[in-house]
Amino acid sequence: MRQFESLDSQMPIGGMSATEIARRFGTPVYVTDERALRDNYRRISRAFSTQMPTRIHYACKANANLAILRILKQEGSHIDAVSIGEVETCLRAGFPADRILHTGVSVSTRELEEVVSKGVPINIDSFSEMRRLSTIASVHPISMRVNPDVGAGHHDHVVTGSKRSKFGIPKSEIVKAYSEALELGLKPKGLHAHIGAGVQEVTPFVQVTEVLVSIAKELEETLGLRLDFIDVGGGIGIPYRVEEKPMDVDLLAKEITSRIKSGCSVGTVAIEPGRYIVADTTVLLTSVVDLKETQEKRFAGVDAGFNTLIRPSFYGSYHHVSVANKFGRPGELSYDVVGPICESGDFLARDRLLPRLEEGDLIAVYDAGAYGFAMSSQYNSRPRCREVLVNDGSASLIREMETVEDILRHQKVPSRLMI
Ligand SMILES: Cc1ncc(COP(=O)(O)O)c(C=O)c1O
Repeated sequence: MRQFESLDSQMPIGGMSATEIARRFGTPVYVTDERALRDNYRRISRAFSTQMPTRIHYACKANANLAILRILKQEGSHIDAVSIGEVETCLRAGFPADRILHTGVSVSTRELEEVVSKGVPINIDSFSEMRRLSTIASVHPISMRVNPDVGAGHHDHVVTGSKRSKFGIPKSEIVKAYSEALELGLKPKGLHAHIGAGVQEVTPFVQVTEVLVSIAKELEETLGLRLDFIDVGGGIGIPYRVEEKPMDVDLLAKEITSRIKSGCSVGTVAIEPGRYIVADTTVLLTSVVDLKETQEKRFAGVDAGFNTLIRPSFYGSYHHVSVANKFGRPGELSYDVVGPICESGDFLARDRLLPRLEEGDLIAVYDAGAYGFAMSSQYNSRPRCREVLVNDGSASLIREMETVEDILRHQKVPSRLMI
């Protein structure tokens, strides 16, 4: 969890007070600290690249804002993209095609054609995808997504590496898949697996590395195939609660790279962190608009709901909250922080001890940079909110607030209904 020091009862973000940011841009607003983003990238990049040649593929599904992508491009990142939309966004942000890896699931032939036309390498998820790709492009760089039968994650929905999940080609069939890929003329480059998301322990990453290394070795011995990279996927968790500890990425890097170096002749490790890079760089600022006390509960109604941040409702995720304009004051009363969506499942935080709240107070929801804006919606016809980037005391708007007009733009009413 990101820690902030109190300055005169105000919460500072990137050298500015949260209250000042909210006054200038309005709420709800996602506020990202550029320094924290660069620090996170550098920490994980250093941990791996001091061990062996490394490619950090930022998983842009976590947050695909162009400004954030530009910063990571400057830092030297590669990209994990899961759709043609993400590919196009990253190309627009200036990433060269060969620094992007398209890892899709249930990929249509139309999407394959578009990805091929952009020259982006493809991480193959199934025999069907591979065969359809070969009819579009006889020579194309590929890797194989292995289903390693090693799954982990903070919620059932995000466990991707287990045998029963829909992702990847079973580990026992990869040699067969690569032998067919060679016959089809595709260009084998690597092996990939992704176990899940929000993984706080090193052990599952070690297990998946061992699976990938043993397949790489088998490919060398049976097909004489020497791959360029092993990609162990993303999923590194972050501490969302005060008492949790961050992952020791130096240890993680040593455990992964030592196995690759000693187990096969692959020369580059790739990893695909999303959450680790962006989650704690960003707070969601939301205003208290309504206060309600019943016999059972005390509610702080705010202007962000699960349309803005769905993780608490969708995954039961915990996000720390504080009162940005009463920062550092001791908790006094227990509140549920709830949004404006017409469902009882619409909450950001439950049973939190906070200073006594008044209408107009500013709530900061921590660690909201990953799968925050990216998973937001227009549910209840509520326009999506702004994003702001702060750096050394100055703030830039990096996404304008949508309007109701934006929501209506693509709708059409047949003329017979207009009479
Ligand atoms: C293939 C792949 N790589 C990387 C990631 C990034 O995961 P995280 O943001 O937890 O690091 C995901 C997340 O779903 C994924 O599916």
